[in-house]
Amino acid sequence: MMTKNLTDKVIWIGALNPQLKVFDIVLRTENGTTYNSYLILADKITVVDTVFRKFTDDFIDKIKSHVNPKDISYLVVNHTEMDHSSAIGRLLKEAPNIKIVSTKTANMFLKEILNSDFDSIIVKDGDSLDLGNMRLKFTWVPFWHWPDTMFTYLEEERLLFSCDGFSSHYCDERLFDDVIKFENFSGDFELYFDFIMRPYKAKIREGLKKIEGLDIKIICPSHGPILRTDVKKYIDLYYKWSAPKEGKKKMTIFYASVYGNTKRMAEAIGEGASQFCEVKICDVTEKEPEEFRDDLESSEGIIFGSATLNADAVKPIWCLLSMFSHIEAKGKKVAAFGSYGWSGEAVKLIEERLNGLRLNVVESGLKAVFTPTRADLDRCKEFGANFATSL
Ligand code: FEO
Repeated sequence: MMTKNLTDKVIWIGALNPQLKVFDIVLRTENGTTYNSYLILADKITVVDTVFRKFTDDFIDKIKSHVNPKDISYLVVNHTEMDHSSAIGRLLKEAPNIKIVSTKTANMFLKEILNSDFDSIIVKDGDSLDLGNMRLKFTWVPFWHWPDTMFTYLEEERLLFSCDGFSSHYCDERLFDDVIKFENFSGDFELYFDFIMRPYKAKIREGLKKIEGLDIKIICPSHGPILRTDVKKYIDLYYKWSAPKEGKKKMTIFYASVYGNTKRMAEAIGEGASQFCEVKICDVTEKEPEEFRDDLESSEGIIFGSATLNADAVKPIWCLLSMFSHIEAKGKKVAAFGSYGWSGEAVKLIEERLNGLRLNVVESGLKAVFTPTRADLDRCKEFGANFATSL
């Protein structure tokens, strides 16, 4: 059973999970993860976040090795996703005097997670909580990466408990970035941003702005290394990765073509569009969906072309469409096209999916039978030009 001091008064009481291979179904975690929880030995003893259910017994033992759970006054819940909240029920049984401190949204979520009553304090953005000899300050950061999320700043120690913000799925019991070395977990730090934070770039920027005035000595995230070396470096990376796009409008045409007919349509659409915006054409069979993430995100307009195979669009197109939940997709304009031989369902099915994703379908789908004729290709150019001018 390992705990580790960050300072005289703050102790890591989290869990190591080196075996974890996939997080939230989609995120590969080849280096495992940690669930970081922190114990603050203030006059009013406080725990910040908890751990995943599987590690609850060990977590309670760690607390008991430092304090009597009945003496704990507060549990700060920065975010309620189950990897941080599923030990709360048990903790409340061991520590009945706890008041749960959180945002209003987190409080509402916790009622549904715990399905029982609990004592609570709802904090507003900028509120403080007196721990006797120390003070916590709370900053709401909604959509880092849930609507419930806040940061907690321990003023006397200059520690920022940032929950999923600045996290990495990287397990190393040495815990601190200066010992682990950034070059060893930098890939996981970026991957975490890409999968978890990237769909909310505007909200990330708002949150970064809010903590600009804080004098931070250590960032204490909920997963992976604790960051105490050149804290600004990590904040600057978040600024860089969440920066808004600059420059010319762009559209990307993604296609999957069996015999080159849908590809010909893609090229004609691109030709029609290219006088109005930057155009990129991608064969979706050439890369993994994740590798198209930058093109999806940096394009104001996206067109999907698929051949019809057994009355459906082809699998690489469906996989690519699943990437919209990993990017900031709001406001993007989209359309579909494709060549077919018998029935041509692919275009309609893609359009239905795009509508289901609440994207803005600006042109009705364009279809051509087998080899596109000269007239078909002229229609493609017109389709591309109309789409591009709508951006
Ligand atoms: Fe680590 Fe959003 O939970």
